[in-house]
Amino acid sequence: MNIVDIIDKKRLNKELSKDEIEYSINGYLDGSIKDYQISSLLMAIVLNGMTDEETINLTDVMLKSGDILSLKEINGIIVDKHSTGGVGDKVTLVLGPLLASLGIKIAKMSGKGLGHTGGTIDKLESIKGFNTNLSKEQFIKQVNDINIAIISQSGNLVPADKKIYALRDVTGTVSSIPLIASSIMSKKIASAADIIIIDVKVGSGALLKDLKSAKELSNLMIKIGKHYNKTIICIITNMDEPLGYNIGNSLEVEEAIETLKGKGPKDLVDVVLTLSSIVLEKVERISIEEAKEKLENNLENGKAYQKFLEFVDMQGGDINSLKVSNKIVSVKSNKSGYINKIDALKLGELAKLLGAGRQTLDDKIDYEVGIVLNKKVGDYVEKDEELLKLYLGDKDIDMSLALECFEIEKINKGKNELILDIIK
Ligand code: URA
Repeated sequence: MNIVDIIDKKRLNKELSKDEIEYSINGYLDGSIKDYQISSLLMAIVLNGMTDEETINLTDVMLKSGDILSLKEINGIIVDKHSTGGVGDKVTLVLGPLLASLGIKIAKMSGKGLGHTGGTIDKLESIKGFNTNLSKEQFIKQVNDINIAIISQSGNLVPADKKIYALRDVTGTVSSIPLIASSIMSKKIASAADIIIIDVKVGSGALLKDLKSAKELSNLMIKIGKHYNKTIICIITNMDEPLGYNIGNSLEVEEAIETLKGKGPKDLVDVVLTLSSIVLEKVERISIEEAKEKLENNLENGKAYQKFLEFVDMQGGDINSLKVSNKIVSVKSNKSGYINKIDALKLGELAKLLGAGRQTLDDKIDYEVGIVLNKKVGDYVEKDEELLKLYLGDKDIDMSLALECFEIEKINKGKNELILDIIK
């Protein structure tokens, strides 16, 4: 077999065999196939796509490139949650403890975030002492004892994806439905949960910009899940504006805490309840209405928050240490009108400039910086009224960038629709 022939075959839009996919991926991992050759193959895949069979084969080859976890020592149905990523997305921090407070086993492995703000692991690590590197035995014991553990992805889980994703990031080959599906699903299957709930974000602040692509990705991930006997549920949610009001690591933990205490913003609560009620309905075989009621009760009665505190404590975190920057600047509106757009992508980029996110996996994050919105889409703002606060660190930024994130007009175009589809 020869990599140039394989690249040529994909360039001509022909279907690759499993052997050819295996040869390419394993060759890249062992160094016999070079970066520039795999980049070329990836670009041919971006342009010509893959059949479902090719995508399942690619997932399988990536999955088998490293360790596959076995969680059979965990009693009960194991649930994992994934998001394709958005700005202000702190859903896992709320959904995990909330479901765990109702007896659902949450065993989640998460990668470090590359992007506007950190990923879930970074947000948790903004709590001093929080240990995301539990051993497999500690991970399993904690899920059995308190129903929830969230840890960093182990070094040898899907190494092929780690290497290929880093290359895709710098070669313009991220935006491909089969590549995204196989990347996400190989990691999720290797993490061994029974039910995987995926929040597929769509909009300006998301990887996928249109509903059609989000539906296509969801259907493909469900098909891959079926191949491995896993239940995959995809919820497509809007990411045209940030979720909730807070963007930035510690700031998002603070907002998650408020939500766990029953005082969360409506959009965040809606996404959390939509995702978690489907899980509870499935695991406990109750109606969606009953599931929602149980979940709402545990947000109101403090049980979800207590579970969060127990989870943080168990992983060594000191919740009282959570700190946000005290260098705060208020950004005020330069006109009156209705807010018809809050550009999630631009705000995410601004948060990254402040130091909340990383460009490469080696960059250091400033946990204390970020943005707190004072308004959401559909709200009215007076001239000179506050639009947002910037929580600054040691980076200089151009404050006028903040104003460019808002579209303020005389007419009211209404709120964004939040839950766009549920695909099971
Ligand atoms: N998230 C992943 O894990 N992989 C992708 O390819 C895109 C988003």
